[in-house]
Amino acid sequence: MSAPVVVVVGAINVDLVVAAARLPGPGETVVGGGVQRHGGGKGANAAVAAARAGAEVLLIGAVGADDTGAAALAELRADGVDTAGVAVLDGVPTGVALIVVDDHGENQIAVGAGANAAVEAEHVRETLRTVLPRAGCVLVSTEIAAAAVAAAVEAAAAAGVRCVLNPAPVVPVVAQLLGHGPVLTPNSTECRHLAALVDADSPAEGVAPPGARALVARTGAPVAVTLGGDGAVVVVPGADPCPVPPLPATVRDTTGAGDTFNGVLAARMAAGDGLVAAVRTATAAASLSVGHVGARTGMPHAAAIAAALATP
Ligand code: ATP
Ligand code: RIB
Repeated sequence: MSAPVVVVVGAINVDLVVAAARLPGPGETVVGGGVQRHGGGKGANAAVAAARAGAEVLLIGAVGADDTGAAALAELRADGVDTAGVAVLDGVPTGVALIVVDDHGENQIAVGAGANAAVEAEHVRETLRTVLPRAGCVLVSTEIAAAAVAAAVEAAAAAGVRCVLNPAPVVPVVAQLLGHGPVLTPNSTECRHLAALVDADSPAEGVAPPGARALVARTGAPVAVTLGGDGAVVVVPGADPCPVPPLPATVRDTTGAGDTFNGVLAARMAAGDGLVAAVRTATAAASLSVGHVGARTGMPHAAAIAAALATP
């Protein structure tokens, strides 16, 4: 019997990346050397990360009926992602992200949502209906239509399939979904913003950042907060927070580091790992990903992740 499937519900973009010495301020122009085109979108990136980590992956989302969309799907299939759940929509463009990366690997991103904003809840429900019986984890991120996000989390909960909800960006619909008990994976800023959104602030507690405890109380489920160069921390109901260190990394571009974390986390959860073990693997994979420009360029395959984890 084949391993449980990872289902990713999220955005698909093409990323246009300019590397410049520093990020522009408001109203300012900075000039970089050239422009690179990379596959992007938080859903598509996480799907690729999960597939490279060894999972069977089905992606649910939407692209426009244009050359950009066709190229995005071809790239995803080349990485082993099943795109049968991606709708090809007339009359809307494929999503585009305009990204500037500075000399320190920091980025600035503006997204034109295009087809991502048109992902229909009914499409999500219908696709999940057929795949949930063999799913090990559903990973949802929030760059798509709010109703589609809600449909995914609700369907996973109703089917009793483990659900990871990456609140990136923090949008109001997330507040309505906390009662379904998804494993939340915010970065530290998103953690604070989400806690404020649901009026459930909590102070920092040891290695747990502000808001984390309050979110755990709301979901009754673990929250895994990513902390950039400080790795991640797992906060669970009724226990001490568990810090997970990163691997040392030379940072060239952190775009997609969070997506790598989420995709590998979902892959390992679907494979049956406990949450802390899955977060350890996800954190290591994300650390490996930041050494290259482009969201997916540095995403490691399973063998590279295993080798890095085995290195003392
Ligand atoms: P992004 O939005 O840039 O994709 P994020 O804000 O969602 O990322 P981060 O918390 O910045 O997520 O990073 C995710 C993971 O990437 C971290 O948990 C860590 O494993 C890895 N990472 C990020 N920055 C570094 C770094 N400087 N050194 C080592 N690992 C890093
Ligand atoms: O998380 C990184 C992604 O965010 C980029 O690939 C870009 O497309 C935006 O969606």
